Amino acid sequence: MTVQQTAFDQIGGAARVDALVEAFYDLVETDQAYAGLRAMHAPDMTNVRAALKGWLTGWLGGPRNWFVANPGVCMMSMHRAMPIDAATAGQWTDAMRRALVQVEVDREMAEALHDVFGRMAANMTAR
Ligand code: HEM
Repeated sequence: MTVQQTAFDQIGGAARVDALVEAFYDLVETDQAYAGLRAMHAPDMTNVRAALKGWLTGWLGGPRNWFVANPGVCMMSMHRAMPIDAATAGQWTDAMRRALVQVEVDREMAEALHDVFGRMAANMTAR
């Protein structure tokens, strides 16, 4: 029997997804290049860190606790209601690309994620 590995498993499970999200928001909070993106968020980023960990975990094929706790929440619709422009979308994908490198996500996986995050971010941009 072939056991199919999820992207969550390939990345290295909960510890690595958590490390990725911490690296991402640490960059957003400290690098002036992301000041516009930072300013869109609440002063305290504890909740958004927890939410992105939970969302990514389920989305990558890991435990779906976040989706069970947040039934019917669509990440695309939620973001399309925000005033996201091309600059802030670019800041998000750039910071995430650097976080993927920092936590040493396998290169092929990092490129695939960067590609899909780029398409999501483009579709979140208000027109
Ligand atoms: C395109 C650029 C993006 C911008 C400017 C942006 C901005 C934001 C903002 C302002 C919030 C609310 C945070 C707060 O209340 O402090 C948020 C929440 C969130 N974002 Fe984004 N975001 C972007 C892209 C993404 C992408 C691509 C994903 C997923 C891959 C994502 C996942 C999340 C999650 C999981 C939350 C938390 C939702 C919750 O509170 O339940 N975001 N984002």
